[in-house]
Amino acid sequence: NFAILNGNIIERSEAKVDVEDRGYQFGDGVYEVIRVYNGKMFTVNEHLNRFEKSLNSIGITLPCTKEHLTGLLEELIAKNNLKLGTIYMQITRGVAPRNHAFPAENITPSLVAYTKEVDRPLESLKAGVRTIVTEDIRWLRCDIKSLNLLGNLLAKQKATVEGCFEAIQHRSEEVTEGSSSNIFVVKNGVVSTHQSDNLILKGITKDVILQVCTNNNIVVEERAFTLEELANADEVFLSSTTAEVIPIIEVDRKPVADGLPGSITRKLQELFEQEIE
Ligand code: PDD
Repeated sequence: NFAILNGNIIERSEAKVDVEDRGYQFGDGVYEVIRVYNGKMFTVNEHLNRFEKSLNSIGITLPCTKEHLTGLLEELIAKNNLKLGTIYMQITRGVAPRNHAFPAENITPSLVAYTKEVDRPLESLKAGVRTIVTEDIRWLRCDIKSLNLLGNLLAKQKATVEGCFEAIQHRSEEVTEGSSSNIFVVKNGVVSTHQSDNLILKGITKDVILQVCTNNNIVVEERAFTLEELANADEVFLSSTTAEVIPIIEVDRKPVADGLPGSITRKLQELFEQEIE
């Protein structure tokens, strides 16, 4: 099994990080998770564009061109003979003596990427999942796909100990997003999801769903919906690179509508599947 370390493909067991890597010490870096279906990356350009945006917003320059990086990732997929799975990729500011301030002289960013075999979540896609609601305690730049995930981790862990798949976060009355997913509600045929601003990650899967809705005359709007709207929704679902479109059948131990995946959610699952084929 191989990994990418700073532009080279090497044995994964040889890929080592310095104790003063700023990602390791400060979470001073950003990441992406890319889906691989049939040995090919899904929406790779969108992921690399978001990666570059995240990097630029913390003052790191992508150390190579996106074309070069795409080629390298393709090579990694081939070498690991990955058919169905994910690529995890991160860049940190690099290695320097520990100091909160950025290093004065230019240091080389550390790039790491590796692959994992991951099945599609067929059972959850079919039956739906249970969720809890929790306060969004994260910072105000959730649009950056930062390595700092403690807020997300604490939310996810709360859901996990309650036997739930995801934690739906809110800031006062407004729902923002899941701990590692975007959240959608459907009411009277209208699909709503939080606008892509600084309070959420602009999900690539979310954007595919918005496009699919538009192309198929499903009314969709990007706006912050409330906890009350969540509780009274006809349908609720979540999206992410690994989850795709998963129905939410329970929120805080109360069933969503009749407690079964809704018809628009089913339709969107069908349409999403056509995108990945
Ligand atoms: N998580 N919101 C948050 C906070 C996320 O971490 C993610 C993805 C999403 C969905 O984005 P996308 O559709 O681009 O995957 C929304 C990834 C999968 C992860 O951290 O593993």
